[in-house]
Amino acid sequence: MKELDLRLNHITKSYNHPVLTDVNLHVTNSSYITILGKSGSGKSTLLNILGLIENFDYGEYIFNGTTIQKNLDYARMRLENIGFIYQSYNLISTMTCLENILMPLTYRKKQTAKGLDELIDLLQIGSLLNQRVNTLSGGEKQRVAIARSLILDPCLILADEPTGNLDSANKQIIFDLLTKEHQKGRGIILITHDAYTAAQAVTTYTLEGGMLHETV
Ligand SMILES: Nc1ncnc2c1ncn2[C@@H]1O[C@H](COP(=O)(O)OP(=O)(O)OP(=O)(O)O)[C@@H](O)[C@H]1O
Ligand SMILES: [Mg+2]
Repeated sequence: MKELDLRLNHITKSYNHPVLTDVNLHVTNSSYITILGKSGSGKSTLLNILGLIENFDYGEYIFNGTTIQKNLDYARMRLENIGFIYQSYNLISTMTCLENILMPLTYRKKQTAKGLDELIDLLQIGSLLNQRVNTLSGGEKQRVAIARSLILDPCLILADEPTGNLDSANKQIIFDLLTKEHQKGRGIILITHDAYTAAQAVTTYTLEGGMLHETV
C-alpha cells in the first residue's frame, strides 16, 4: 500500500459565517476515523477540503509531503490517492455498473483493474455488472459506487454518510468492506450521524464550534 501521511494544521473556512475555525488532524495508513457532529457543523465541508474538492481559507494542508496550494493539479492528486464515497452515490445512471466501476481507469494511462474480482465478490455485485445503474436499489448503487472508489487503489478513503440511506444488510456489507480495506492499510475517514457506525472506527471525533474534539 502507498504511504499515507496527511496533516491539517489550523485549518479555517468561512462561508457567510465561520464554519471551520481551527481544525487539526493527522491521518496515516493505520487511521480509521469517524467524524460526528450536528447538521450544519461543517462535516461535509471538512471532508470536501480533505478530498481536494473545496478550498480552505487559512492554515496548512500537507498531503504526503506536498503542501496543498492553489497551483497544484488537484484532480490528479485526488485520482492517485483518494477514494470518495458520497451519500448520493454520484454514479452515471445511464451507464452499466461495470462501466461506472471502470470509469476512473479511463483517466489513467495504465489501465489495470487490480483487485476487481475481489471487490465484486466482497460487495456482492457480480450479478449486477451489466445492469444499468438507474435500475438498481439504493444499497446496490452504493455498493457499485464503493467499487468505483477503490478501483485505483487509493491510500485514503473519504466517506460522507455512506450508509445514511441504507438498510442494515447493506450497511453490514459496507462496514465489513471498510474494515477489510483498513486492514490492508488504507486510511479511512467516515462521516456519520449514527453511533453504531461510529463505534466501528479506531478514533472518533466530534466537530463542534469549528473544531474537532476527540470523543473518549
Ligand atoms: N457552498 C456553500 N456556500 C455557502 N454556505 C455553505 C456552502 N457549503 C456549506 N455551507 C454552509 O456551511 C455550514 C456547514 O455545512 P456542511 O454541509 O459542511 O454541514 P454538515 O455538518 O455536513 O451538515 P449535515 O450533517 O446536514 O450534512 C452550513 O451552515 C452550510 O449552510
Ligand atoms: Mg454533510
